[in-house]
Amino acid sequence: MEKRENWSSKIGFILAAAGSAVGLGNIWKFPYIAGENGGGAFILIYLVAILIVGLPVMLCEIILGRKTQKNPVGAFNAIRPGSPWMFAGAIGVLAGFLILSYYSVVAGWTLGYIFKAITGQISSFQNIEMAKQSFDTFIQSAKWSVLCHFIIMAITTYIVYNGIKKGIERWSSILMPLVFVILIILIFKGLSMKGSKAGVNFLFSFDFKKLTPGAFVTAMGHAFFSLSLGLGVMITYGSYLSKGENLFKSTLAIVSLDTAVALLAGLAIFPAVFAVGLEPDAGPGLIFHLLPLVFSKMAFGIVWATLFFILIFFAAITSTISLLEVVSAYFIDELKWSRKTVVIVFGFIIFLLGIPSALSFGKWESVKLIGLSFFDFVDTLSANYFLPIGGILISLFVGWIWGTKNAVDEIRHGSHNFADVHLISLLAGLKDDPSHNSEVHVVTLASLWGIFIRFIAPIAIMIAFLVLIGVIKI
Ligand code: TRP
Repeated sequence: MEKRENWSSKIGFILAAAGSAVGLGNIWKFPYIAGENGGGAFILIYLVAILIVGLPVMLCEIILGRKTQKNPVGAFNAIRPGSPWMFAGAIGVLAGFLILSYYSVVAGWTLGYIFKAITGQISSFQNIEMAKQSFDTFIQSAKWSVLCHFIIMAITTYIVYNGIKKGIERWSSILMPLVFVILIILIFKGLSMKGSKAGVNFLFSFDFKKLTPGAFVTAMGHAFFSLSLGLGVMITYGSYLSKGENLFKSTLAIVSLDTAVALLAGLAIFPAVFAVGLEPDAGPGLIFHLLPLVFSKMAFGIVWATLFFILIFFAAITSTISLLEVVSAYFIDELKWSRKTVVIVFGFIIFLLGIPSALSFGKWESVKLIGLSFFDFVDTLSANYFLPIGGILISLFVGWIWGTKNAVDEIRHGSHNFADVHLISLLAGLKDDPSHNSEVHVVTLASLWGIFIRFIAPIAIMIAFLVLIGVIKI
């Protein structure tokens, strides 16, 4: 059997995990849902969702991974051998498989758009109809969409084939810094344009009337997807960590990077949109219809358009590799397959499964499953059902079955401050003062986290889930 690998450095792990989190969710989806839900007000509730649900659940996943050094199924099984809890892990592995199949299709569109940008097609758009027409023709073309999806799966397979250090960590460490550099360049460009201030105002203005219960649910669902939670990506990535790492600090870094990229993406997009005199409420078409038009109105549009689509492409690749890694880790740990075999076999099967999703915008548009296109069906099943169910089960398992006591014992390796220092003394910088650390403390980061994981996170996710699937009407 192959020896289980470890990350070669702390920063390598953080970049890989942040790479998983930062993806289409941040750059494509976050800006448009923020745009539709009132800009600044939505950002505020999104931050709340990240704090009360995202951060605690991510810490849970990473703890489970490092403790058991296993894939999601193996992790539950290691703690409660033979119990039905392992199905919580199995839902995760299945969700990883399903999400990757259609996520790769959308990632493929960004590849196609890099091509369109370089060849100057994008900078020739005259109006929104032309931009829309070009997008529709592209996604309806079986040849193009399947080819691009194939290329994404081939790149993903290649990276994961090379393992943790030489594959995932290496590529995340190259691509993530580039994502930041490109974002910053685009933000400077956007802000330097005349009339861009309106975009900044839009993004950070508070329209409290738009703070509807629906916006809360959207924020919660998005926080989950954006942080790659609920299916065990973080369990799997955490399983390659060694005992010395400070899990709380790492989690904080990953969550902050993900949130920063979402906000920066908004700052890269809206100022430029306003500067060329367009409206920001384009919905899902924001980056594929509206932005190409924005680029066509800019000087050197070819350059900006190419940079922008390379940015999303890089962000998407660091996410697709995390999804394939979850599926692979399961077969490697549990069924003792070799990494190379699993990755090639499942890379190919997921490519095949993605084909109907790719075709569901064109040739197979009329094929419906319970009234949804194949793409929407797989998306709804995995993102609206499997992810929240996975998230609820993970927090209940750690909070009530394995127990927060055992989890905190695991965090103590590498993170003494989290578990044993009074929260107020810690925040005040007085943890080393003799009169502040002389006794056992009840109010610590760990106790706060325990309450979130036992009560607040599962209840909040449950409510969002029931609204999402229409059981609770708001
Ligand atoms: N978080 C990624 C994004 O924002 C997508 C993603 C990667 C994901 N792995 C995941 C979502 C696992 C849910 C679960 O685009």
